[in-house]
Amino acid sequence: MQENKKNFIKLVNEKISNKNLKYSILTMGCQLNENDSEKMAGMLEKMGYSEISDYKNADLVIFNTCCVRENAEERLFGKIGEIKKIKESRNVILAIGGCMMQEDGMLQKIKKSYPFVNVIFGTHTMQNLPENIYKAIIENEKVKDVIDIDGEIYEGLPIKRNDKFKASVTIMYGCNNFCTYCIVPYVRGRERSREPEKILEEVKALAKDGYKEVTLLGQNVNSYIGNNKIKNFAELLNEVCKIDGIERIRFISPHPKDFTDDVIEAIANNEKICKIIHLPLQSGNSKVLKEMNRKYTKEQYLELVDKMKKRITNVVFSTDIIVGFPGETDEEFEDTLDVARKVNFEQIFMFIYSVREGTVAAKMEQVSEDKKHERFEKLKDLYDSRVDENNEKYLNTVQKLLIEGKSKNNNEMFEGRTDTNKVVIFRPNSENKIGDIVCVKITETHKWYLKGEIVK
Ligand code: SAH
Ligand code: SF4
Ligand code: F3S
Repeated sequence: MQENKKNFIKLVNEKISNKNLKYSILTMGCQLNENDSEKMAGMLEKMGYSEISDYKNADLVIFNTCCVRENAEERLFGKIGEIKKIKESRNVILAIGGCMMQEDGMLQKIKKSYPFVNVIFGTHTMQNLPENIYKAIIENEKVKDVIDIDGEIYEGLPIKRNDKFKASVTIMYGCNNFCTYCIVPYVRGRERSREPEKILEEVKALAKDGYKEVTLLGQNVNSYIGNNKIKNFAELLNEVCKIDGIERIRFISPHPKDFTDDVIEAIANNEKICKIIHLPLQSGNSKVLKEMNRKYTKEQYLELVDKMKKRITNVVFSTDIIVGFPGETDEEFEDTLDVARKVNFEQIFMFIYSVREGTVAAKMEQVSEDKKHERFEKLKDLYDSRVDENNEKYLNTVQKLLIEGKSKNNNEMFEGRTDTNKVVIFRPNSENKIGDIVCVKITETHKWYLKGEIVK
């Protein structure tokens, strides 16, 4: 973090440190936004604020927004209304940041309809937060800090992480793919990769702090560009695997078009890399995929899956699917069901296509709401009908779990996740602690969780 930016942390701290002020951040959207929020929290703590979970009781509220689907706006405006009411009776600073603030016209809309918002900031100016808060609380300024050029990558921002044993590490920012339905490239800018050394430094620091699991984040992680020494995503994965203490490595999201053999080798050769691969499908029909600008066909996707199934022992897949993309016919949607059946996804994140103004697909002929919902239900039914059968394969196997906490429904049981992200509950022995990795034999399957017995 640059010295002049750090100075504002100090300046705010001098003004508020004895006032016991509380902050709360409400994060909408994906894990990249979550990771940004962790950095905002890190800066706020250094400024002298402490966290409170209910934003209705906070002195400083940040909404970190997402705009990947339509309904997010309504939700945000509702929340702003809630804060307006609170502002009538006491002093609250409201800052709104994140992807939605980068959308065309949004800054003006908020300025006009919600003039009481203290700070509006975008995805490229997060590191100015201390300065912006300073201006808002000391100079009583209404700050607008949204720029449309790709921000530099700021290293060394303080961070307050949500978990103690698993952490996310952003390895690249932005996206160059311009899938025709998607707004992310417009609000997050072009791809920028972090220096590999900085990433490895961060993961080593996590290992030293007792973290066991890291998830490498980016909109398209396998188009990561390193330097002369660590050139690409496969080499980065291999280096991260060498770090002692980190026992599990995940990454999201890779793009099927960039899934090169060296990445497959890295996964196959490193025990630490979790054997659930998130491989966004979006549609199973080649014509729809072309119109989505995904740059692969149904056949290429299935070939990639087959290649990985052959090379990587016990690999399973999760995916993102959009139903009702403009022009999608019933027959074309059948291809999506067909791929879902063939791959047998462990997990499917299903989305109903949502029009995003400014994207190419917004101008195409739309599918009716009824059709979209009908297809969504069909896909969900297919997935649900496979869950029990998919769970059966775990019976009597020994699985490694990272213990995440006590089971929510039964205080005497612990809960953990397999490397394929399945929740398992088990009765702990006296030595087991949260954050340990243990071996558990699966004895029972239930729809949304498994039950097991500790082996060691
Ligand atoms: N970069 C990642 C994910 C980005 S957004 C990737 O390419 O996989 C997360 C998911 O939201 C996408 O995978 C897609 O399935 C969904 N999504 C994006 N835009 C959407 C839209 N306009 N309507 C519905 N779902 C959308
Ligand atoms: Fe959006 Fe496609 Fe980029 Fe993913 S790869 S963020 S879906 S444009
Ligand atoms: Fe949403 Fe921005 Fe992530 S639009 S999905 S929070 S990159």
